[in-house]
Amino acid sequence: MAKTVQERINHYLEDTIGAERNFEKALRTFGKTGEQTTVQSLLSSASAKAKTQHERLEALLKTRGGSPSESKTILAEMLAFTPLSAQLGQGAAEKNTQHLMVTFAAAAAEMAMYESLATAAAEGRALDVVSLARTLQGEERDDYAQVWDILPQSAAASFQAELEKGKSAEEVLARYLEDAIAAEKSFETQLLGFSEESEGSTVQALFRQHAEETKQQYTQLTQRLEELGGSTSTIKSFLAHMFNLAPKIAQIGHDKFERQTQDLMMAYAVENAEVAMYESLAQAARLAGDGRTHELARQIQQQEKQTAEKVWAQIAPAARRAIQAVPEAA
Ligand SMILES: [Fe+2]
Ligand SMILES: [Fe+2]
Repeated sequence: MAKTVQERINHYLEDTIGAERNFEKALRTFGKTGEQTTVQSLLSSASAKAKTQHERLEALLKTRGGSPSESKTILAEMLAFTPLSAQLGQGAAEKNTQHLMVTFAAAAAEMAMYESLATAAAEGRALDVVSLARTLQGEERDDYAQVWDILPQSAAASFQAELEKGKSAEEVLARYLEDAIAAEKSFETQLLGFSEESEGSTVQALFRQHAEETKQQYTQLTQRLEELGGSTSTIKSFLAHMFNLAPKIAQIGHDKFERQTQDLMMAYAVENAEVAMYESLAQAARLAGDGRTHELARQIQQQEKQTAEKVWAQIAPAARRAIQAVPEAA
């Protein structure tokens, strides 16, 4: 494990480079899939941007005496893109919408990653790193905003495309509800795991409360699904697949403050994935004229937004504590 502050920050840079490389590859694939050309071109340009980002990070790391490692890093492991492509939904248009949800979550993860990097670097007086981290964070925020702008339209078009294939609105909505229920169940497990790791802190209470709320969410969703004549399936939803929900092994060697920062980054990504998932559900329910499902989707989406904000507020303090815990910085 990195010993000095300089080495730690270089290690974070390596992590970030690994993540950007991963995103570049995933986004390139997303840009070639499906039928919604607006989505494809946005994701292709995000891929090109990710490439210039890891190149800039690599150049900076070099000036700091480090070199990019070949080993897979925690942040790259965090969003498991590869198995996702195999899990994706039925329609070509739905694939595009799902890729937007994934990219929205990935952009959120990267905003969180740069928040942590910039904070740690400021604490370690590495002003060159602070400056690049803030620049790249701004670029991620742009991606995040652009994805959000086209998501409602993409979701509505996907739903419409399913209806045109002869499926009933109830049938498609029921499938979306099943997806959401499966995702919520795996998020509950994950939140409980994070809360165990954050013994006795504000962060622990935050994770525990949201695990409780998550349980209420899937209970309400299940009730709505049953009202629509569906029943919960055992199929894992694509969103549950998107996150590598057992990152513990990769985290060995990180100290407790670093683990907490990583858990928070991951939680921020998950909450944003949920915000996007409920946007898609709300759009479909609105088109179907299903007021009850629409209302439920908006209500849960609001809870996810609020949780995302609370999680965000904890990232910088956690990243700062990780650097303060390094003996020479004390
Ligand atoms: Fe949730
Ligand atoms: Fe959530």
